[in-house]
Amino acid sequence: MNFTKIINLKTLTVGAIAGVMAFGLTSCSNAPNSPGYEFMPDMYRSPVLKYYNTYTLNGDTLQSAMKPVAGTISRGCMPGIPAGMDYEKAGVYLKNPILFSDAVLTEGGAIYGKFCVHCHGEAGKGDGKVGVKLPGPPPPYDGAGLKNLPEGKMFYTITNGKGLMGSHASQLSVEERWKVIYYVQKLQGHTPGQPAVADSVKAEIAMVVKTDNKKEKQTK
Ligand code: HEC
Repeated sequence: MNFTKIINLKTLTVGAIAGVMAFGLTSCSNAPNSPGYEFMPDMYRSPVLKYYNTYTLNGDTLQSAMKPVAGTISRGCMPGIPAGMDYEKAGVYLKNPILFSDAVLTEGGAIYGKFCVHCHGEAGKGDGKVGVKLPGPPPPYDGAGLKNLPEGKMFYTITNGKGLMGSHASQLSVEERWKVIYYVQKLQGHTPGQPAVADSVKAEIAMVVKTDNKKEKQTK
C-alpha cells in the first residue's frame, strides 16, 4: 500500500469537514438581521386597521368594526327597567316581550305558586296565608284598584317592590317576571296576552306620552 496516499486521503477528509463547518457557521451568523427575500410583500404585511374607525383603501372610505349604537342590547338579552324610568313611565312604555302561549301561562302559574300565592292567594284576592296577616293585605287583582293595572307597572312593582311587597328581582329573572305577569292578568279576569285597558288608563297613558314628547322637544 502507498503510504503517502493514505495521508492525502486523511488531510482531504479533515479539510472537507472543516470547510463545511466554517461555511455553516458563517452563513448563519447574520440570520437575525436578515429578512430574507420576500416574494410578495403585500401578502406578508396586510394593512393594519384601526379598530372602531374609518379607513381608506384604494380610495374607498371603509369602516372597521364599529361600536354599537347607544342603547343596543345583545341578542337574547332581555332588558329590565331602563335607567331613570319611574313607575308611571314603566306603565306606559314597558310591554311584555314574551310571546304568549299556553305553556308560558302554565309556567307563569308555577312561578305564582312558588313566589306570590302565600300573599296574594290562589285566586289573587289578597287572601294568602301570609297576606291576611299583613298590616295591609294585598289588594285583589280584580278589584277596582288593580283590574286595569298596566303590565309595565306590574313589572316595575315585581322588580322594585311596593309598600309591603318586597322586590323579587333577585328571585325571578326578567323573563320569569314577565311570565308571571300573564298569570296575574288571568287572575285580573282578562284574557292574558290581550289585557283590556280601560279608557281612563288609555287617557292617562296618552297624557304621559304627550308630556314626554313636549319635554323632548324642549331639550332639543
Ligand atoms: C310579602 C307578601 C307579597 C308577596 C310575596 C308578593 N306580593 Fe305582590 N303585593 C303585596 C302587597 C302588600 C301589595 C300592595 C302594595 C301596595 O300597593 O302598597 C302587592 C301588590 C302587587 C301588585 C300590584 C302592584 C301595583 O303596582 O300596584 C302586583 C301586580 C303584585 N303584587 C304581583 C305580585 C307577584 C307577581 C308576586 C310574586 C312574584 C308578588 N306580588 C308577591 C304583597 C306581596
